[in-house]
Amino acid sequence: MKLTINNANLYVEEQGQGTPVILLHGFPLDHQMWKLQIEALSSAYRVIAPDLRGMGQSDVPDSNISLDQYADDVLALMDKLNIQKAALGGFSMGGYIAFSLLRKAPERFSALVLANTRPEADGQDGRKNRLNMAVSLYDKGPAAARDVMLPKLLTEQTRQSDPQLVDELNTVMGSMPAEGLIHASLAMAFRGDSVDLLSSIAVPTLVIVGEEDPITPPSVMKKMADQIKGSSYHVLPAASHLTPLEQPEAFNTLLLDFLKNTNI
Ligand code: MLT
Repeated sequence: MKLTINNANLYVEEQGQGTPVILLHGFPLDHQMWKLQIEALSSAYRVIAPDLRGMGQSDVPDSNISLDQYADDVLALMDKLNIQKAALGGFSMGGYIAFSLLRKAPERFSALVLANTRPEADGQDGRKNRLNMAVSLYDKGPAAARDVMLPKLLTEQTRQSDPQLVDELNTVMGSMPAEGLIHASLAMAFRGDSVDLLSSIAVPTLVIVGEEDPITPPSVMKKMADQIKGSSYHVLPAASHLTPLEQPEAFNTLLLDFLKNTNI
């Protein structure tokens, strides 16, 4: 469905009934990256997976936007759907937004899932890469992000053995609005650091990383998990960055067990 949130039309996938679970996607993707989690969770939970502003079927921002503003959209979406409190899952860029949400409104979240993400802000090189990406998106369209990201999202082994998944990702990433991706790149380039937030996270937290993730490697995620009190940290073998789609069974087992054993 489409909902008007903070003066923009945002696409929101909503399935199932019960305790709300909000899933925030990564870059340059949309809610479809969660399709196997939506399928697995929606018999027991109310699963909500929006397309962030400027990605998927949601309106492209008409001026520059920060990660905190993406987070404001999520809070406004919760208000619109009468959700006082939810379990929150963030993948990569979605994780950066989850940090912002926990800073802004920790009382509205009962549990946290951090998949393939990192708390640190970009260093100088990272920021420069994102500015170059923005230029490249202007020049070449969404293929610029797709071509850089695809080899990092899946292991070489999966890219060879699962051409259908590769095709699906090529289609999703290749149909993103270039301007929306430019806004997202700039927002990530200038995001704040969330390392200080970690020790204040007071909800049960599940941390998942792919063993071969080159973007948010296990060493980075272990260090992050160690700073979140009581968090549970898991490395998925034979997985790169896009763990929810590359190892959906292992991912869903962890997710379902976590939600079942957590008072959400
Ligand atoms: C993502 O998957 O959302 C991106 O890899 C995040 C990033 O580039 O930092």
